[in-house]
Order: sequence, then C-alpha cells, then structure tokens
Amino acid sequence: MLYESVTQPSLFGKKDFMDIKFPQPQYLGAKYIHGDWITQYIPDNAKVVLDAFSGSQSIAFLCKKMGKRVISNDFLTFNSQIGKALIENKTEILTPDDIHILFSENSAPKEYNLMEMLFTDIFFVRTETAFLDAFRSNIDRLENEYKKSLAFSIINRAMTRKVTMGHFAHTQALVYASDPERIKRNRSLIRPLKEIFMDLVMGYNNAVFDNATDCQSYNENILELLPSLSDVDLAYFDPPYCDSHADYQSFYHLLETYTNYWKDKKFVNGTKRYSPKRIGGFETKKEIINSFKALFDLARDIPYWLISYNDRSYPTIDFLVDMISLYRNVKVERKVYNAGRGGKGSVAGSSEILIICTP
Ligand SMILES: C[S@@+](CC[C@H](N)C(=O)[O-])C[C@H]1O[C@@H](n2cnc3c(N)ncnc32)[C@H](O)[C@@H]1O
Repeated sequence: MLYESVTQPSLFGKKDFMDIKFPQPQYLGAKYIHGDWITQYIPDNAKVVLDAFSGSQSIAFLCKKMGKRVISNDFLTFNSQIGKALIENKTEILTPDDIHILFSENSAPKEYNLMEMLFTDIFFVRTETAFLDAFRSNIDRLENEYKKSLAFSIINRAMTRKVTMGHFAHTQALVYASDPERIKRNRSLIRPLKEIFMDLVMGYNNAVFDNATDCQSYNENILELLPSLSDVDLAYFDPPYCDSHADYQSFYHLLETYTNYWKDKKFVNGTKRYSPKRIGGFETKKEIINSFKALFDLARDIPYWLISYNDRSYPTIDFLVDMISLYRNVKVERKVYNAGRGGKGSVAGSSEILIICTP
C-alpha cells in the first residue's frame, strides 16, 4: 500500500495537521527531537516563518503543520528537494505507475552511469549502483517537479539507511555490511535499496499535505537569498555548529552528487567527494564571525529570530549574545544532554542552546 486513505485534514483544522507524521531522517544535527521545545517560542502572530538552514526540513515541517507559510532553504540540493517534496508540495504523491517508471530499465545508460563509475565497491556493490543510475534516469521521466522531489527524497533516505552511520564520510560501508554483528543490529545494511525504498514510500506520501498557504523551498546560500525575501515574521537559524561536525558536504556528498548528477566536477579522496565544494560561510573559524554578522545585518527587517547552537561550538554563546544584542533583545534557553550522543556536537554534558531574539 502506497498511501493510507486517512481522512484528509480539513483546511483550517490545525489540530488535524498535528497528527501528520514527519518521515524521520537520519541527518546530523536534525532537530526533530527538539521540535516542540523550539517551536513553542514562535508567537501566534508570526504567520510567515523562514527556516534558513533547513537540512532535513524537520522544523519547516512542524511549522507547516502549525499552519504557517513556510519559506524553507538549504544550500544543498538534496535537502532542498525534501523541502520541495514535503514543504512546498501540497498534493502530489508517488503512485504505483510512478514507481513502475522509477523501477524501469536505465532509460539512457550512456548518460546515466555516474554512480556505477564513482561509488561501486566503495559504498554499494555494482548491482546497487547500477540500480541507482537506472532509477536516476527515470526520475527525469516523472511528470512534475513534486513527484521528482519525492523520488529524490525517498531514494536518498534509502541510501542513508543502507550505509552504516548514515553518512558518506568513511570508506567502511562494505566492510560493515559484511559484519554479522552489525547486520544483526541493522538489517538494512544487506537489504536491496529497492526494498528499502518501497518501505519508505507510504510514510512520505502520507506526509504530503496542503496547509492552505503557499510554502516555498529554496536552494541557495542564505546570505544570497535573504535580500530577496520580504514580509517574513520569524526566522529560524540553525547553521552548522562551527568546530563540531560542520562539514555537511563531506558527510552527504554522495546524495548531493546523485541529486545534481554532476559530470563536470572532480571527485577526490577515498570517498570520491565532489570538488570544489560549495561555499557556505558557516564552517570554519576563519569565516564564521563575518558570516554571522552578515546574517544578522540581512535579517534586520525580520522581527523575530530563533537561533539554535551548541555550547561546545565556536564562537561561544556569550559572544553570539553580544553580537545579537546590537539588534535584538536576547534570552537564552538550554537543554543539557545527559547521556550518550544525540547527534552533531551533542556529547554528554554539552547543551543544545536556543537563542530567542525579540524586537
Ligand atoms: C544544523 S543543519 C540544519 C538541521 C535542520 N534544522 C534539521 O532539523 O534537519 C545546518 C544546515 O545548514 C546548511 N547550510 C550550511 N551553510 C549554509 C548556507 N550558507 N546557506 C544555506 N544553508 C546552509 C547545511 O547544508 C545543513 O543542512
């Protein structure tokens, strides 16, 4: 079954939207665990919300469920495709006919062979990379951009499920996939991508809904996008946490290569990461202070800001608060990680920080 025929939420019944489930990602720094904690600080009168560094789209999705008009943005294409599929998209789902197209033979094998050439025997065996190329050739045959974005979101999620640790910054994927202990813990390591994809389709189809506003998903450097936006009531900023796992392009390069299907890049090191990388501005100590300055300057017309950070990252929270005090009233909330690792930078004893900035 590809779609559960639940009663469609009524247009203005926000309570009904709240029952819609976000397909859980495996993304470093994703905030779905902190969603309620963060969104409680969004005032009712904030009707238009910008999720400026939206990643897996977890906060954008929650805001869409709250009935906000959401403007979502991430500079990585594979993330912005999730935004197209689940934030901007109101009605399009993947039907059995679409899936038949996606699972057909490679429609242009000479053109669509990048995965097989680059990643065979690094992350996947040849039958899987060939399947990915065929599937990619057929995404381009789907009838509209929303169906395409759903196909990208689901197949990319299937890939993170199949690879140990859910990212592509290591070269141990196939070693782990033949380790009986690891397979016992995670059977997806040995399941075909096609099967994992099929398991995920219904969850994504069921997450498509219309909240009666026109939400949008962008794929830009936020410092370039902000000048073109107007009438935003609240901005949520969840930038990479500089100094602790900020290099998203090394972790997720394979998904970005698959989505863009680049032929004109170099592919470097043992993981075949594309080069050159995009310039984000929030990754290194050298650039981060100037980027924050630019961000706050460009956001000065947006009344409310919520900013996620971590107290083990650079710069310190005190430094950030001093910077923001030039523009807004500031309050700091914190959630302490007591045990284990909760994702990027969240080692036991560190705190997830939310900086609440009001006019
Ligand atoms: C901490 S993650 C966001 C996680 C997200 N809130 C979630 O719940 O999944 C930071 C994101 O910022 C994106 N990013 C980094 N630099 C950017 C820039 N200059 N403009 C837009 N997005 C950027 C990265 O691709 C990454 O997805």
